[in-house]
Amino acid sequence: MQILTKISGKSKDYLPLLDMINQGVQVKADSVEKHLANEKLVTFLEQDIERTGLEKILFHYKQNKEKKIPFLPVDKLISEDEIDDIMQVLKEVLSSGRFTSGPYIPTFEKAIAEYLGKKYVIATSSGTDALMISLISAGVHPGDEVILPANSFAATENAVLAIGAVPVYADIDPETYCLSPSEIEKHITDKTVCILPVHLYGKQADMKEISAIAKQHGLKIIEDGCQAIGSSGLGAYGDGLVLSFNPYKNLGVCGKAGAIATNDEALAEKCMEISYHGFEAGKKNVKRSDYGFNSKIDNLQAAIGLERMKYLGLQNFKRFYLAKRYIEQLQTLEDEGYMKLPTLTDDHVWHLFPIRVLKGERDELAAKLLEMGIETDVYYPVLSHQHQTNLVSQKYRQTTLPHTEKAAQQLLHLPLYPGMPLQDQEKVIEGVHHVIKSSIQ
Ligand SMILES: Cc1ncc(COP(=O)(O)O)c(C=O)c1O
Repeated sequence: MQILTKISGKSKDYLPLLDMINQGVQVKADSVEKHLANEKLVTFLEQDIERTGLEKILFHYKQNKEKKIPFLPVDKLISEDEIDDIMQVLKEVLSSGRFTSGPYIPTFEKAIAEYLGKKYVIATSSGTDALMISLISAGVHPGDEVILPANSFAATENAVLAIGAVPVYADIDPETYCLSPSEIEKHITDKTVCILPVHLYGKQADMKEISAIAKQHGLKIIEDGCQAIGSSGLGAYGDGLVLSFNPYKNLGVCGKAGAIATNDEALAEKCMEISYHGFEAGKKNVKRSDYGFNSKIDNLQAAIGLERMKYLGLQNFKRFYLAKRYIEQLQTLEDEGYMKLPTLTDDHVWHLFPIRVLKGERDELAAKLLEMGIETDVYYPVLSHQHQTNLVSQKYRQTTLPHTEKAAQQLLHLPLYPGMPLQDQEKVIEGVHHVIKSSIQ
């Protein structure tokens, strides 16, 4: 067993931390890195876990009264404790009248920067805006090619399209569902300017390899980390890292928000300018960039983000716990060839839990689970190069991405969110075993 003397509160520590707790090793709360994001993780570790029981503390929710097991119940994405904390700060912001610009923005940016170990953070009004701003600021011009995966949320490709650049889709690694480094190389042309890997479902792409390719070809990297905050080493390789704080993300505000993180001073300055009308930092209404958007985060959302950040380390630990439980309890189905489970790696924050259905039809499994009241979902149902749009039919009809396409037919996502009652997860596990064994042979 690995004994942690210092706990970062991020993904790489979750397995050793859980082992220590399960073995009855006293985990000292003061060994946890001091950061806002770890506040509730510390509170958890300060409790008498051995006596009360880990699961009782972590998942002390009432069982769902309804028979249905929702995939992502919006009213369970925020806890009562968080609401209480937010109400306090809302009172303060509302009475100050500072809803858009205001003091919580730099405080939130500093907290995110410290958490990521980055020099600069520019908080924005969404992850989508953060993608557009960072691509423009990294020097992507209209007509330039950007290499990205085709299995992300549409925001990733839309950001490229919105700035007039050209998305070039490369295939994924079928193990991680993230961009495959060797596939990227096949698509590099003299028009390629940037690689845009997506850390899909909370799992990091192979950034070491991708970064080596980018260096070799003189390309920029903007990482789409919208689903991956809390993953150890996130953003270590890219020129810029983009985050989303929409309410469905691992760290969500009560509305829309995002951020760009970087160590590059010039990139940070440009992002600042493009995110607010091209204005020079610190100067009111004086432009330095030719143009810019109205895309800064609101003071109100930054204040909420700071409150919700206190829960991040603990919430991600709960996600890990649920993911590990799924993997262990569905293992026999993988062993018997029915499905492929994701791997429990230390760079994963379990934004979503994907299973890959290998025997029988994915849609049939989903329909049968739904008959039992268990909701599942597919992220994402239509690949970027297969949408029914004019652009796709004109430009991407010839695009084939075998691994991406195969995975898209087989992937099914099971419910996983920090507030999920364990009894609900048990029902999902039982349901999957039952459906597969009784009908899919
Ligand atoms: C991978 C990915 N990229 C980009 C975005 C866009 O973020 P936002 O919703 O904050 O605009 C999202 C989330 O919706 C996402 O999951």
